[in-house]
Amino acid sequence: MNRYAVFGHPVAHSQSPRIHAAFAQQAGIALDFRAIDAAPGRFAELLDAFAAEGGRGASVTLPLKEQAASLCSELTERARQSGAVNTLTRVDGGWHGDNTDGLGFLRDLSDRARLHVRGRRALLLGAGGAARGVALALSEAGVRELVICNRTPERADRLVDAIGDPERVHSRYWQSLPDIGNFELIVNATSAGRDGEPLSFALPYSLLGPRCACYDLNYGEASLPFLAWARSAGAAHCFDGLGMLVEQAAESFLRWHGVRPDTDAVYEELRARAPALHTGD
Ligand code: ATR
Repeated sequence: MNRYAVFGHPVAHSQSPRIHAAFAQQAGIALDFRAIDAAPGRFAELLDAFAAEGGRGASVTLPLKEQAASLCSELTERARQSGAVNTLTRVDGGWHGDNTDGLGFLRDLSDRARLHVRGRRALLLGAGGAARGVALALSEAGVRELVICNRTPERADRLVDAIGDPERVHSRYWQSLPDIGNFELIVNATSAGRDGEPLSFALPYSLLGPRCACYDLNYGEASLPFLAWARSAGAAHCFDGLGMLVEQAAESFLRWHGVRPDTDAVYEELRARAPALHTGD
């Protein structure tokens, strides 16, 4: 049996087993995909045990992505640069680490949201694990300018340094948000909604340019506060991170099984399970 898993903490809410089971059914692959709850202090040990039981690959979710990078014997360039791994593949007795979050984000933007980021001015809120993969992807996809703004400015500076494209990618203090003009894309990569907290800084409506798209990397209830702000600010398009979740899983599935699944059917099924949370236009 093909053994795969998602590691996270908590992980009971994870949609990954459902998504991968649906992809496997489509592809006619027999798959054992389970969710493994791993407190950060036990992740290494549980991952070893999983490998010993024949585990061939794993998704990694919060808060283990940075630790996962440190447990790999090999990393793709984008996993190394983002410092976070969401996809582990067993190769030659070690773990090979990749990060498909950025690709999943861009694919959801282009295929589902019909939004192409090349040449656009984008604002990224947050500089934690979730922000890192997306910042790199936006920069590589050719945004005209990427401004990164974080509650703790040093963390935004570190992310800007890691990307190393100071002409186009730079940080600003949140205090300067009223003075930095408007954007065509605003991405919320903070965990504020997930923790049930409001953002610790105010977002002025002046950030929205005409036809601005607002995207929350969270999905479900965690995305509601930011998207409510975006709507009241007059955003032309609002999206939550459900599409990105399905697309990053599809990229992992492709790496593990050599087949790219049809994501639309799986996305629609997940969306239908939570119609109250529909946030895309
Ligand atoms: P994740 O893996 O989801 O990115 P993380 O690495 O803990 O989680 O990062 C959380 C991000 O949300 C950080 O950018 C954090 O800002 P700090 O670096 O200042 O901690 C941001 N964040 C969390 N709660 C916030 C809040 N209430 N207001 C604004 N930003 C917040």
